[in-house]
Amino acid sequence: MPLSTADPLLRGFPFPFADDRYRYSTNIEPARTPVFTPAGQWGGAVLDIDTEYQTELRERAAILAADPTRGTILPHMRGAAWDTMLTLMRELAVTYPDTIRLTREGDRWAWENRILGLRADFVYGDDATLPSEPLHYIASQVQEDIVLLDQRDGALYGDAGVVTFAADWSFGFDVGMSFLEIHGPVPRIRQERVIVRAHEFLKRLQPHQPYRRTNWTMTIGRRLDVSTERYYEWGPDRETIKHVDDVAFARLVHLRVEVQHLIRLPESGAILFLIRTYMLPLEKLATVETWRRRAAAVLAELPADIADYKGIIKYKDRAASWLAAHGEGAA
Ligand code: HEM
Repeated sequence: MPLSTADPLLRGFPFPFADDRYRYSTNIEPARTPVFTPAGQWGGAVLDIDTEYQTELRERAAILAADPTRGTILPHMRGAAWDTMLTLMRELAVTYPDTIRLTREGDRWAWENRILGLRADFVYGDDATLPSEPLHYIASQVQEDIVLLDQRDGALYGDAGVVTFAADWSFGFDVGMSFLEIHGPVPRIRQERVIVRAHEFLKRLQPHQPYRRTNWTMTIGRRLDVSTERYYEWGPDRETIKHVDDVAFARLVHLRVEVQHLIRLPESGAILFLIRTYMLPLEKLATVETWRRRAAAVLAELPADIADYKGIIKYKDRAASWLAAHGEGAA
């Protein structure tokens, strides 16, 4: 059992490994199905507001102010941006009715987010009735990163989004690319057909039937923005982590998990892709015995090409050994 399930980061952590061995897979399942873990639960709703809400939103605002390319809407995606905003407002209002409200009178909508002290009265589709463009407006009120995919000529294109917490990729570089091009750098997927199958699935996705999947990697330090743009800041940590002692190692190295939702928007027909990032340092992860054992096994067995692509090859064996040695009752 964990030392304290009162720890909110442990309680809501979406531990991603269902087995002692990890390989890429399409791993899609219906959304809104709660998953019970030894520390708590996750996944009951599409959007998740946790104790990091205000901190992460402040961080997103600072990143966007410094680098506006993190939020881009190609002109043909303006309708999808409105569709996204209303869809996410409805999700928030249903999930957090005590603090968030959306009501409608005729063509006027009233929005209230009491957690942030925000109100807006808007007319759907009229940018002038909102304090900012709709995708940015809603991105400033959810912890999730957002990508919108347009479907045309039998393919999907990442044509809009607000992404401030990318794990080793660049939204500004990828915007406008097809789904298959975006996944070009991922190893093994051509042989294993994971991405081609996912593409076929997404093209058939229906409104009001959201799906989800998880993905994972590791990050040094509690750093959400490990985008390509800032590689010069975080890339060197992969070398310096070799020289810290075990206590600092377990405090700094985090298992980073993305809960990704896939939703067909009802009005525009675009695909809404939400990426919510959770991070847990190894020292906390090890307090949940089943997670400690399983993560140790997965990391020890992980093939080099996958570890290399994830950027964890220099320290994943040490992470596996640290986890294996730090069970309950270990010295
Ligand atoms: C069912 C749907 C999907 C599947 C099965 C899938 C699968 C994967 C896999 C296996 C990876 C490698 C991850 C790693 O090693 O850490 C990856 C990376 C990535 N995925 Fe997806 N993905 C899906 C949906 C999407 C969507 C909708 C987008 C939106 C544009 C997206 C954007 C990316 C990006 C940007 C990367 C990083 C690529 C890079 O290194 O430049 N994925 N995906």
